[in-house]
Amino acid sequence: MCPGSYDPVTNGHLDIIERAAKLFDEVVVAVLVNKNKKSLFTVEERLDMLREVTAQWPNVRIDSWHGLLVDYCRANDIGAIVKGLRAVSDFDYELQMAQMNQRLSGVETLFMSTNPLYSFLASSLVKEVATYGGDVSNLLPPKIEQRLRERLTEN
Ligand code: PNS
Repeated sequence: MCPGSYDPVTNGHLDIIERAAKLFDEVVVAVLVNKNKKSLFTVEERLDMLREVTAQWPNVRIDSWHGLLVDYCRANDIGAIVKGLRAVSDFDYELQMAQMNQRLSGVETLFMSTNPLYSFLASSLVKEVATYGGDVSNLLPPKIEQRLRERLTEN
């Protein structure tokens, strides 16, 4: 399970998904709701974008879920959550969630170190840079960048 807000999916997410897909027989990439974040794209739009950019990996499946991550994992017999760690700043919150998820359900979280090329990358920063006309072309697949530009000009 590679969970996230994916608002929108970035090259950093795709790096983790691709590497997880090499390690596991099947990877579910699930759009979940993060109560601390306001989203730019609807869940359906995020799913569409994820399907488009993960189509080359046959063992990757895209889904969404509105409840607890561990309930989805239990219902689908998923034993491992894979999360990318960019920096020490990610660690505190990720560790807390991993321990909570383990306590709630027994589902384990495995941390994967991000590719250093993407260690600064976050959807929230990409949206901010793009809002003010900055170049984000190396940070997102071209089709996602286009969708982001369109959304920002609508708003
Ligand atoms: O991409 P994000 O926003 O860092 O992903 C965080 C996410 C969505 C994976 C996390 O907020 C989550 O698991 N939300 C689902 C609700 C849940 O299970 N909350 C309890 C976490 S211990």
